[in-house]
Order: sequence, then structure tokens, then C-alpha cells
Amino acid sequence: MTRTIIAPSILSADFSRLGEEIEAIDRAGADWIHLDVMDGHFVPNITFGAPVIKAVRGRSKKVFDCHLMIEPADPYFAAFADAGCDIITVHAEATKHLDRSLQAIRDLGKKAGVSLNPATPESVIEYVLDRLDLVLLMTVNPGFGGQAFIGPVVDKVARVKAMVGARPIDIEIDGGVTPETAPLVAAAGANVLVAGSAVFRGGNEQAYADNIAAIRRASDGAMRSAA
Ligand code: DX5
Ligand code: ZN
Repeated sequence: MTRTIIAPSILSADFSRLGEEIEAIDRAGADWIHLDVMDGHFVPNITFGAPVIKAVRGRSKKVFDCHLMIEPADPYFAAFADAGCDIITVHAEATKHLDRSLQAIRDLGKKAGVSLNPATPESVIEYVLDRLDLVLLMTVNPGFGGQAFIGPVVDKVARVKAMVGARPIDIEIDGGVTPETAPLVAAAGANVLVAGSAVFRGGNEQAYADNIAAIRRASDGAMRSAA
């Protein structure tokens, strides 16, 4: 059985204790650490950049999954690679030359991801499938944690799953993931789930472990029944 990869978003962590929060979600069962980088231009919010990621890199050995919500993105790939990100995901809407951006990420020795906003059709990835390690489908409009899941994106998950076929490309979902919504996207073909508020609610390590386990149980069950 394939196990769902759970990637807590530190956007919902206590930023005054970021290092400890990353250690806590690591021990609580996170598979990847999801890092939401926002610039106040591509999205209406500002978070953190490569220096902060570099400062906390040593707190966990898990995969650092970097979601760039910045425009332009290409001039900063090297800084995020140097900071220790393992996967670098660029928004299709934030680059004019998606093929070139994905090549640039791989040239840095990192896994290349592309993210699509809820309104962006999956056809934009049709000609770059061979350059992709991951597709990140937004189930909220990017910029903030704690928003409601946008249901129609579930159909897009199924379409991307069909496009990807047997290629080793992860399908990741980001936004409004809870034990209630996780089975919908897992059944449609997603294998990586980002969750911010649904993981960090409760504010302590035991709560994080319980929250991660609840999402995993819900999604693994749906993956099994979909197979
Ligand atoms: C939104 C971010 C998400 C966000 C998800 O722009 O990309 O990663 O943290 O938060 P929740 O899980 O609370 O919707
Ligand atoms: Zn994200």
C-alpha cells in the first residue's frame, strides 16, 4: 500500500519558536516540511525567505519542500537551493518561461515542482511533464492559511493524475486539507498533502501527532479504496 506523504506547512507554526516547532512536527510524524515563501506581490502576504530557511535547516533531516509564491522566482532559485531546500516549486502563473524555470531548478541539483492556482487549467503542464518531479495543486487561493477548500479542484487532481500516467511525479495538494477533505483528493490521485492549520491546531507536540495521524488515516483509507 502506498502511504500518503504528509507535509505540514510551517505557515501555521509559532514563528517566535520556529526551530522548536519544526523539531516538534518532525517528531510528530511529518514526512516533509512545507515552506511557504510569499513576497507581497505575487500573493497578498509576506512570510520569510531563504535566510530563515537556512537558519532552521539543521532542525530536521526531513525533506524541505519549498513553495515559492514569488514573482519573479528564477533569480532566487540558487538562494533557496543553497538554503537547503530539496524540492523547489514555482507557480506557473509567476514565470513566463516555465520550461526554463524547471530546467534551472534541476540544474541546481534539486527536484522541480510546478504549482497551479485553483483557476489555472492543468493544460499548462502538458509539455513540461518530463521536466517535473512534482505538481502542486492549490485548493485555496495562495496567500493565507486557514481558508476553505475549493471543491472543484478535485476534478483537476484526477485529470493531472491521468496526464502524469506512470511518470514518477508527486501530486501534492495545498490548502484547506483536513481529515474531511483529505480523502477526496487522495481518492482522485494525490499522494502528498500539505496541511497548516489542521496540523498546528492544539499548539503542542501531542496535538500535532494526533492531527497528522488523523489526516493520514483519512487519506490512506481513501487511497486504498481508490486502488
Ligand atoms: C497557502 C499556503 C498553504 C497554507 C495552507 O498559500 O501555500 O501551504 O499554509 O494552510 P491551510 O492548511 O491552513 O489551508
Ligand atoms: Zn504552500
